[in-house]
Amino acid sequence: MTDTSRSILEMNAYSGGTETSPLLLRRQANMGPAAILFYREPLELQRASGAWLEATDGTRYLDCYNNVPSVGHCHPRVVEAVSRQIGLLNVHSRYLTEIVESYLERLLATFPEHLAHAVLTCSGSEANDLAMRMAIRATGNRGFIVTEAAYHGNTAAVADVSPSSWKSGHVPDHVRLVPAPSADAYGPSVAEGFAAAVANAARDLGEAGYGLAAFICDSVFSSDGIHADPEGFLAPAIDAVHAAGGLYIADEVQPGFGRLGHGMWGFTRHGVAPDIVTMGKPMGNGFPMAGLVGRHELFAQFCEDTGYFNTFGGNPVAAAAGMAVLDCIGEEDLIGNAARSGRLLMEGLTSIAAENNRIRALRGTGLFIGIELAKTDVPAGEGVARLIDALRQRQVLIGAAGRTGETLKLRPPLCLSASEVDFFLDALRLALREA
Ligand SMILES: Cc1ncc(COP(=O)(O)O)c(C=O)c1O
Repeated sequence: MTDTSRSILEMNAYSGGTETSPLLLRRQANMGPAAILFYREPLELQRASGAWLEATDGTRYLDCYNNVPSVGHCHPRVVEAVSRQIGLLNVHSRYLTEIVESYLERLLATFPEHLAHAVLTCSGSEANDLAMRMAIRATGNRGFIVTEAAYHGNTAAVADVSPSSWKSGHVPDHVRLVPAPSADAYGPSVAEGFAAAVANAARDLGEAGYGLAAFICDSVFSSDGIHADPEGFLAPAIDAVHAAGGLYIADEVQPGFGRLGHGMWGFTRHGVAPDIVTMGKPMGNGFPMAGLVGRHELFAQFCEDTGYFNTFGGNPVAAAAGMAVLDCIGEEDLIGNAARSGRLLMEGLTSIAAENNRIRALRGTGLFIGIELAKTDVPAGEGVARLIDALRQRQVLIGAAGRTGETLKLRPPLCLSASEVDFFLDALRLALREA
């Protein structure tokens, strides 16, 4: 990380001001320096539905930021399933309950057969933490490779492999960073360049005495600025990881559950076979649930040393939420809709980019799209922050990604309609003129 890098938590964050909202003052008193809020003038929300959020002043905002309420905010089917189950039974996972087993079977059926078992947790961080422990146990190694602006979560171990959240820029001894797979970093042969960088990092970890426990990557490199194409570019890097004796952990916390408009999981676009897949965010459409799936022998080895118990992870209410999410994805053809609405968005963005030299590149697939802004005199993150504010004035909520926050990150609910795509495109045209 260079000193031009910004923590993704800092991008577009509220950093104090003249605001005197009583609720904001209460928040600051309650949380002190831990209070992080979006927007120079923070938003106070009261309800949501479909792809829309409503503020307390009645203004409605098209949600192009939040990938958790992925089947739509407050989807009635999820609300009903959670309410029914919490009125019937909710208990930790050391008893037998039909709904939990049915959910695990449905979830596992979405993965290739070699990913034989699943564990449920409450957060993506917990899932990645457990995946790292399994990798250390299976390989006997302690080193990890991640991309330069990766984010994988907030436990002590996972924060060590989440450079986008580091403020000091200090890289832990057992971690090696590789530039994200882009033509800017590797030229036209991204697949070969990325694989060589991963192989070098693995060699370096070996020489430093750590060895390679795992390469962890987000299948769409979300916080690195979204790098989805060409399909298959990841395969040589995964071969290099396995050749070095490490595991490949596919972090599907962001791209998973159909967001890429191509099956359920992002790694399948690359034709690779992860040893472990972690997931979370959209899994319960807002009900806190996450988990991992992995190969049988990894579970067996790990459980020789220690069991895994998570009081709230995978309880019957989580299973009900997860089941309702899978029902919605299937019955409402949300993966197909992500592909269709994603195509419409990309077509519209391509024509906006043709008329506007502030847009340097468009990347992504399905409903995960990055709009990279051209370098100007204004620092990259600042230019994007202005645009994010201008879009908010136009009733669109959106975020940023990339090492210097140079990329607008679009992740609307998968139910986004064609008219909502138009709403976004109109707002962006105006915001580009204004900001
Ligand atoms: C790719 C990725 N992995 C893991 C996590 C951590 O998930 P959680 O915030 O649920 O702990 C995040 C959260 O933003 C993420 O983006």
